[in-house]
Amino acid sequence: MPTMTLPMAQTLRIAKIKEHIGAEVTGIDLTRPVDEATRRELYRALVDNVALVIRDQHFTTQQFLDAAALFGEPMANEMEKKKLAEVPLVSHVDSLKRTKDGKRIYNGATWHCDHTNQPVPPKFTSLYAISLPDSGGGTSIANARAGYAALPDDVKQRIDGMQTVNVIVGSAAKVFDGDRLKWQQDSGREPVVHPLVPTNPDTGAKSIYFHPSKTENIVGLGPEESQELLDELVERTVRPEFTYTHPWRLGDMLIWDNRSAMHRANFDYDPAQHRLLYKIIVKGDRPR
Ligand SMILES: [Fe+2]
Repeated sequence: MPTMTLPMAQTLRIAKIKEHIGAEVTGIDLTRPVDEATRRELYRALVDNVALVIRDQHFTTQQFLDAAALFGEPMANEMEKKKLAEVPLVSHVDSLKRTKDGKRIYNGATWHCDHTNQPVPPKFTSLYAISLPDSGGGTSIANARAGYAALPDDVKQRIDGMQTVNVIVGSAAKVFDGDRLKWQQDSGREPVVHPLVPTNPDTGAKSIYFHPSKTENIVGLGPEESQELLDELVERTVRPEFTYTHPWRLGDMLIWDNRSAMHRANFDYDPAQHRLLYKIIVKGDRPR
């Protein structure tokens, strides 16, 4: 009788990366059908650990979209020029793009939550590596739920009821190199008000939630004063023990919970080398 070697059955394994943030997922190929119990397990691991690193995926662009859709409904990136022509719900994060006058673009270099200028911002952001520099270029994620919980009570009381006014680029934004008002007009969006300390509906936990460059002001404070408070909150909440910097490997799908995390890109690599990631955002609820 001829013998046949069957591929080893996959065993899903979810292991914490750090005590307060991140879990690594192995033993699953998201291009194959995922049953409902497994989908729920992955979703729970994501919201509990704030970020998941799902290893050894080999996606086409459409397969990446299908994998992200396991976590919710993908939504369009508001930056038209970042959308991929073949699958517009997937956008690119491309290190070789330059400004009109040839300068490097430092998108996402400071701690932030994604797309806070939208009335219903994304709950999750996922990235998948296509091309990586030889070293550096990690994505840092901080557990903002733990950061909030660790604040002294008087600071919590001070910020709990605050609201942010969100635009495409705030007038006091420190990191922006372009025509701010034209961007705002082109976006066709009105300023959007969100709580500074919303509650994550999946965990019931409060977290600080903002994008400094997209915050015009905190209601009742001026733009400069608002930026000072946001800087102070970043300083107090983004602690090493709550933070994980993901050193990218090809095959990694990273996904995090914007409602409980802040993140930033690291520009610590050779600018001549290509760092290309594909990005998908997953629809959330209006923050409350
Ligand atoms: Fe971002």
